Amino acid sequence: MNQKVRHIIFALSTLTAALSVHAQETAYKASTVNKPINIVNIASLEAQAEAQMQAGAFGYIRGGAEDEKNLRSNTSAFDKKYIMPRIMQGIELKDIQINTKFLGIDLKTPIIQAPMAAQGLANIDGELSTAKGMAKAGSIFSLSTYGNKTIEEVAQVAGKSPFFFQLYMSKNDKFNEFTLKRAKQNGAKAIILTVDAAVGGYREDDIKNNFEFPLGFANLELFAKQNGDTAKTGKGTGISEIFAQAKQGFTPADINYVKKMTGLPVIVKGIQSAEDADMAIRAGADAIWVSNHGGRQLDSGPASFDVLPSIAKVVNKRVPIVFDSGVRRGSHVFKALASGADIVAIGRPVLYGLQLGGAEGVNSVVEQFNKELRINMMLAGVKDIEAVKQTRLYSDKDFE
Ligand code: LAC
Repeated sequence: MNQKVRHIIFALSTLTAALSVHAQETAYKASTVNKPINIVNIASLEAQAEAQMQAGAFGYIRGGAEDEKNLRSNTSAFDKKYIMPRIMQGIELKDIQINTKFLGIDLKTPIIQAPMAAQGLANIDGELSTAKGMAKAGSIFSLSTYGNKTIEEVAQVAGKSPFFFQLYMSKNDKFNEFTLKRAKQNGAKAIILTVDAAVGGYREDDIKNNFEFPLGFANLELFAKQNGDTAKTGKGTGISEIFAQAKQGFTPADINYVKKMTGLPVIVKGIQSAEDADMAIRAGADAIWVSNHGGRQLDSGPASFDVLPSIAKVVNKRVPIVFDSGVRRGSHVFKALASGADIVAIGRPVLYGLQLGGAEGVNSVVEQFNKELRINMMLAGVKDIEAVKQTRLYSDKDFE
């Protein structure tokens, strides 16, 4: 071997070593804990999770659109309504029941988990840990199309516990059919059809952090592998590129398509207007999910809680209503139920619980909501979820 060749080999091996060190340094490290967490309040979990997470991953989870007005107003809107203390209802804390039913499923709590993408950012086992945590809480786990685990993996972990599958319709109908059939075959109890994210909101944290997913979206990867498809599957892409593959031009016929394809109840998620709620029900929706995507989409839209009463009025109990966006307190759950929701979903708090305590942390988050809800119910003199739903809330104009 002459000297020149030896130099080239040396240079190449140094480069390979440097690249592999770099790869190791940049490999995503998700949390591996599984333990209950001490919670003073849900809001404080955000800073605790931030301290443990890479900036890009945390920013993707926490962030809202544009100036984050909607992210903030979703939570502050609850303060416009009051729960009246009632003191002579003869109720003791042991009488308080928070169990309920949704789409025929018995739940130990009126709190379910909103579907969220890429849960591998918060825990090594991602969605599988969340599914275990929600099962322990006696509630429902929902798997996102953009989850890091497949429907099959989730079904195996869920066992007899109920889970839903959330669909982002693709522009490619083959993907929709492939994925919906697997959801049905693997025992999903309902399909959540998200309709408010035909494009992603303008999220500045993701731009600042130049955030790209470090892990693939398992259901996209499975389709690509089995069908030789070349669409992007998550790893190394930003959310805008993923949304770019999602269907736009959504119409009521899409609700019907999902119903026909699966025969499962279809929950239409991302409704903020009474007119859209009515259109969705006429198109066959089995439930309406009132949500503005946790303030991640249209920043100038109203707070989700503010639109809930007008939607409940138009829905008029034809189908049940799920509510999310901004829920951080047991009192928020109470107020949403008293304003027309049948069940309340929580999003980011679940991922913070997942980061801080794995499956057990997720359960701790639901327990904290349950604890606060019970205290609110006790002080409001209502003993079960049906009674919460009948409770009249007050606003400043009642006291003028
Ligand atoms: C998001 C989508 C994936 O909000 O739900 O990022």
